[in-house]
Amino acid sequence: MDEKKLNDAIANPQNLGEMADADSVGTVGSPDCGDMVRMWLKFKEEDGRKVIDRASFQSFGCQTAIAVASMATEMLKGKTVDEARQLKAEEMTGDIGALPPMKIHCGQLVEGALKSALDNDGTEAPAPAPESPATN
Ligand code: FES
Ligand code: FES
Repeated sequence: MDEKKLNDAIANPQNLGEMADADSVGTVGSPDCGDMVRMWLKFKEEDGRKVIDRASFQSFGCQTAIAVASMATEMLKGKTVDEARQLKAEEMTGDIGALPPMKIHCGQLVEGALKSALDNDGTEAPAPAPESPATN
C-alpha cells in the first residue's frame, strides 16, 4: 500500500458530499466496525449506452473508507452500469494499492455502497437516510 497516496486521498478527498441531483443512492454499514458509506450516482447517455456521469460519497467515521471512496468515485466516471457492477473492492483503491488485512473491509464497504446505488438505479426511490450509523 502507498501510504502517501492514502494520506493524500484522506487530506483531499474527491467527490465528497451529497449529490442533490443524483439518480440513485446506496448506503451500507459495516458490522465489523459500525462505519457507514453512502454513494450517489448520476447517469448519462453516451453513444447509446448508459454511463456514470458523476459519483459522490459520504463516509461516517473511517479515513480509509474515505480514501477508497475518493478513488472509486473518480474511477467510476464514464463506466457503464455493467462495468461498475464488476468493479471489485481491490480495484477501487487505485493508486493506493492493496489495503492491509485490517482495512480490507473498508474497501468492501465502498464496493457495497456502489452495488447498493446500482441496484437502486433510478427504478426505485432513493433509500431514506439512516438514523445513525449501524453498530454491532
Ligand atoms: Fe472504522 Fe475503525 S472503526 S475506522
Ligand atoms: Fe471500518 Fe474502515 S474501519 S470502514
